[in-house]
Amino acid sequence: MRAREREVQRGAGGALAPRRPGEGGRAEPRRIPLTGRGPADNLGGMKIAVSGKGGTGKTTLAGMLALYLAGQGRPVIAVDADPAASLASALGLRGEDAPAPISEMRELILERTGASEGYGSFFKLNPRVDDLPERFSATVRGVRLLVLGGVKSGGSGCICPESALLRALVSHLILRQDETVIMDMEAGIEHLGRATARAVDRMIVMVEPGLRSVSTALAVRRLATEIGLVDVVAVANKVRPETDLGAIRAALGDLELAGVIPYDQAIAEADMRGESPYTGSPAQVAMMEALAARILGPGRGGGGGGGGAGKDAGGGAAGTARKASR
Ligand SMILES: Nc1ncnc2c1ncn2[C@@H]1O[C@H](COP(=O)(O)OP(=O)(O)O)[C@@H](O)[C@H]1O
Ligand SMILES: [Mg+2]
Repeated sequence: MRAREREVQRGAGGALAPRRPGEGGRAEPRRIPLTGRGPADNLGGMKIAVSGKGGTGKTTLAGMLALYLAGQGRPVIAVDADPAASLASALGLRGEDAPAPISEMRELILERTGASEGYGSFFKLNPRVDDLPERFSATVRGVRLLVLGGVKSGGSGCICPESALLRALVSHLILRQDETVIMDMEAGIEHLGRATARAVDRMIVMVEPGLRSVSTALAVRRLATEIGLVDVVAVANKVRPETDLGAIRAALGDLELAGVIPYDQAIAEADMRGESPYTGSPAQVAMMEALAARILGPGRGGGGGGGGAGKDAGGGAAGTARKASR
């Protein structure tokens, strides 16, 4: 098959200069001013996390947003932080073209963390990562994709060399890189430490018709709020004409339903063919423009705007498992 106009450049250089080259320490969390001039004006450098129950459309939305924003001329880094990695295919990258998961790069992990084979050894919690985005990404249609991969940990809260490296990398992407970052996460906030979480500008939790995804969304929001990620909105996906949006809204309570994406057979079919759902057709661009304005626009969480004033941690106990029930 003709690989359409897909451009894939592995490890190619780009505008990926770290904010403070060579420095491994932490930076102050950075807030991007949302000026209210519409998405085209104020999304530069925005750090966006997408979470929610499995199957709700996190990867679909993350991929479409990334391609849309890149199509608007923005430098975009898409991060696949779901162990069940599938963002590559949502971006239109297949098999060989998809970057390898960083969690599987045993030698790199040992080299950077200073760990030795076998657990129980000492290792660095702040390994050098500033060169990794460039070295281990693939670029497709203007989006630079990094795949984190899964960490097989003995239990929640375990810090092993793999997770130390991934955390440092996520922190670097969120705190140091100037690009717009879109992170496709599982139903949880693994890899987000407090300092990094506070610098995430917005978390989108996906829901679909059915209340199970709503309870997962509320659990994810609670976990996020506990570590200082307060700007959280919900997006309903796969909505059909008969879907009772009022019921979804009611179940979400004070979690604002910021956007609605209709069920679209073409999206499901693209996935069946292993292709990106985003064609970049004028109709899709218009749809994404309107959606981005709603879900990424100003006024959420940090004062102003509806629904968010009293965002409350919801009484979750400290030390709650990092992963919300699915
Ligand atoms: N709006 C939509 N209309 C139709 N199918 C959709 C829509 N959004 C997602 N899907 C399909 O639902 C399935 C799950 O979506 P995916 O993005 O992989 O979910 P997640 O990443 O949350 O697990 C995929 O087959 C995808 O193509
Ligand atoms: Mg997914």
